[in-house]
Amino acid sequence: MIHRDPLRSALLAWYDRQARDLAWRVGPADRRDGVRGDPYRVWLSEVMLQQTTVPHATPYFLSFTERWPTVLDLAAVDDGELMGAWAGLGYYARARNLLACARAVAADHGGVFPDTEEGLRALPGVGAYTAAAVAAIAFDRQANVVDGNVERVMARLFAVETPVPDAKPELKALAASLVTAERPGDWAQALMDLGATVCRPKSPLCDLCPISAWCEGLKTGAPETYPRKTKKADRPRRYGVAYLLTRGDVVALVRRPPKGLLGGMLGLPTSDWRSTPWSDDEAVAAAPTAAAWRDRGAVEHVFTHFSLTLRVFAAEGANDGDFVWTAREGLGALPSVFLKAALAGERLL
Ligand code: ADE
Repeated sequence: MIHRDPLRSALLAWYDRQARDLAWRVGPADRRDGVRGDPYRVWLSEVMLQQTTVPHATPYFLSFTERWPTVLDLAAVDDGELMGAWAGLGYYARARNLLACARAVAADHGGVFPDTEEGLRALPGVGAYTAAAVAAIAFDRQANVVDGNVERVMARLFAVETPVPDAKPELKALAASLVTAERPGDWAQALMDLGATVCRPKSPLCDLCPISAWCEGLKTGAPETYPRKTKKADRPRRYGVAYLLTRGDVVALVRRPPKGLLGGMLGLPTSDWRSTPWSDDEAVAAAPTAAAWRDRGAVEHVFTHFSLTLRVFAAEGANDGDFVWTAREGLGALPSVFLKAALAGERLL
């Protein structure tokens, strides 16, 4: 049985001393003075952080909030512009949801975010995690904010033997048992900081942990072995061919179908992505236009649900086909799988 109150005090005191200084964060001292985060900034940061790490998300967060300082500014952006700004953050479905949510806040709520977990949850694209995080961090609502970091901290603290993902409800209930009406926003962020900096996935720094005295995982002698995992099958592999067709300084791109992986984004033309490799002849036959295609090797890319081996063929092109001809300098905005393929096509990889 863990004694909740001393554990909470110990973690909150640690957070008071060493909360990370993050671009979207209102630190514990300011929060004591009653300052709260702008819900727009909290929401935007949480959506970005579901996708990637703090160091990777930070420049995106800064540039988004500079270009679009309020949710009304973001709501007015057109889809293509947002997709371009999102490139490099992965998962374009999230960017589409981001825009849908901003537009709903603008159209249905007068540009003001709802201030309860239920109200937030009702917005398009806002899931349980984001609703809880924004409710706690922006509005100091008593919400249970559980991300992967918090799950790991709970699995160790309580030495949970059930493997993930089955353990998720249990981990969530354990996290809820530690939430109170006192400083919910700081509590949520303290747990996240602990997970990111001390209770790290591979080598936890238990000597520095403010709550190690309560940690059942540490008592087992192998805290890093929590959360337990079921063996999961390797990602399936798919194979495709990407075509770098150039004409002087411009490159042939295609707009991908709106639904599906990388939906609505510009990319290099590709073959189907299938479960068997492509021979040279097949690759040339599947090309978007007839040209003197040359083999430029292959690139690897890992998506959430599969790994992709993409052969790359390049040619100097004729002026036919239904392409979006784009200057080479514009290629930086492509999803990274296509950027990699383009660089390989140019022999820069
Ligand atoms: N990861 C996700 N959200 C976070 C936050 N608000 N602070 C720190 N790390 C986070």
